[in-house]
Amino acid sequence: MADSAVLNPSVAPNPATTSATTAGHGSGDSAISPDDAPLLSVRHLKKSYGTHEVLKDVSFDVKRGQVLVLLGPSGSGKSTLIRCLNGLETIQGGEIVFKGQAVPANNERAWRKLRTEIGMVFQSYDLFPNLTVAKNIELGPTKVQKRPKAEVDEQMDRLLADVQLSEYKNAYPRELSGGQKQRIAIVRALAMNPELMLFDEVTASLDPEMVREVLELMLRLAKRHMTMIVVTHEMEFARRVADTVMFLENGVILERQSGNEFFTHPQTDRARNFLESMAPVGAEPQD
Ligand SMILES: Nc1ncnc2c1ncn2[C@@H]1O[C@H](COP(=O)(O)OP(=O)(O)OP(=O)(O)O)[C@@H](O)[C@H]1O
Ligand SMILES: [Mg+2]
Repeated sequence: MADSAVLNPSVAPNPATTSATTAGHGSGDSAISPDDAPLLSVRHLKKSYGTHEVLKDVSFDVKRGQVLVLLGPSGSGKSTLIRCLNGLETIQGGEIVFKGQAVPANNERAWRKLRTEIGMVFQSYDLFPNLTVAKNIELGPTKVQKRPKAEVDEQMDRLLADVQLSEYKNAYPRELSGGQKQRIAIVRALAMNPELMLFDEVTASLDPEMVREVLELMLRLAKRHMTMIVVTHEMEFARRVADTVMFLENGVILERQSGNEFFTHPQTDRARNFLESMAPVGAEPQD
């Protein structure tokens, strides 16, 4: 079986995104055929908490197979945006269009369906502590998607083998390290065959030695053409994984360009300062 089918059976490799590039796993929007309709379109999204406008008229598209990295200072609205995308937050304006269909704001059923198609992994390990790894993974596919257990188990075994955690199938989350828990959380999301994966700072709570294994899994997913929106503070990883970078400040998209361009030629002082602030201590500033 091809690599892409192991981690993401629902997405066939897209020949348009497989061209070799210098940064990221693609080369920005230009790597994707222009007639490809976006998988996700966010249109004039507005989100407030009380009088505090957190997202102000945010619009962008994500195409199939694209990796969009969302960067921005703390409080700029990255997590809020991610949460709006699968209906964990109510929005005050705009719309979210997934596979060409606007998701009606008050239709909880439509959002529930969307959440089976969009996988999400957060910073905190959100595995059910009272369930084994296997039960955590099986729950969504068997109970929500009502798929046959045998089929789900077969997929689970492949996914666990791929992340080298087969031996933990019957373990409880408390028996796993942080990095292992995050890899299982990713496997659990993948077992739903999502068409889009959202990652919000999934390595932020991990000890440094565990960060790498999780980032490498995400890089593998990107190489296998999983469509992903990624919030991360790991800049070297962001540079490697991003087709496109979107830089958010105060709920506004200040920049949106290919990863390569963003990291070499940020257009705004704000983004330049941000990149400098994220550079390793002692690194020479870029021109
Ligand atoms: N539940 C909430 N109630 C009120 N205000 C909130 C809530 N969640 C977020 N905010 C506010 O919205 C703004 C954006 O927060 P958000 O968590 O989206 O930022 P972020 O870019 O993810 O930051 P970080 O990099 O620190 O994770 C902040 O000013 C925050 O205080
Ligand atoms: Mg956040």
